[in-house]
Amino acid sequence: MISIFRKKQKWAGKLDLTNLPRHIAIIMDGNGRWATRRGLPRSAGHAAGAENFRTIATHCKDIGVEFLTVYAFSTENWRRPEEEVSAIMGLLEKYLGEALEKMERDRIKMKFFGEIEALPERLYALARRTEEIGARYEGFQVNICINYGGRDEIIRATKSYAEDFAAGEALELSEEQFSSRLFSAGVPEPELLIRPGGEKRLSNFLLWQAAYAELYFSDVLWPDFGTEQLERAISWFQGRNRRFGGVTK
Ligand code: FPP
Repeated sequence: MISIFRKKQKWAGKLDLTNLPRHIAIIMDGNGRWATRRGLPRSAGHAAGAENFRTIATHCKDIGVEFLTVYAFSTENWRRPEEEVSAIMGLLEKYLGEALEKMERDRIKMKFFGEIEALPERLYALARRTEEIGARYEGFQVNICINYGGRDEIIRATKSYAEDFAAGEALELSEEQFSSRLFSAGVPEPELLIRPGGEKRLSNFLLWQAAYAELYFSDVLWPDFGTEQLERAISWFQGRNRRFGGVTK
């Protein structure tokens, strides 16, 4: 039976499980090139990418990562050809539909970061439903960024703050206050941000939240970025000296 989460995989055992990043964020880049290199349409790359999302999410859950945030569709991705946009929307609908069917068993919390009201109606309804059902569960949480942009998120939070301030609420503008108005409210910041696909930039992803994230770049294209690649990234993370602006003890 297909589930959004694959069957439990055997743990490779190379990682220090006491020092895992609690939250991993991923820019799933390289689907188009993966397909083109195989003489396939770009949509086939996105299908392979979506399948790999399932593999990686399952592995994160199995090893004990608490939060996984993936960039599925940015506010800028609407500029792509209509055919490609609808292929991505179709894939999201397929995977959310499957997740919904298996939620009782998988007990996964799912959240959406981004302005999802602008999505096709069926996809929007599915997203809302998976969020509602997931709210009952504790444990592994997947955040899917759809119609998401980091700058847009910051502007929305600023507007919401300004509105409350103008309405006379006595508000202190602190980092905590501001964070609580972002899509990621209540979610700890990502400690490890992975970008496969060869580019070395954030592309408007989690601009506020990634302030102290360790950034891992890989030339491997997303559909090929499997569990071994993920473990390599985590292992690299475990060797980092995280100082948060201070000095090494
Ligand atoms: C970036 O690769 C990828 C995207 C814009 C789409 C990602 C979407 C999915 C993997 C599908 C559904 C997701 C889930 C969570 C089920 P690109 O197209 O920019 O690749 P390129 O740089 O090689 O052209």
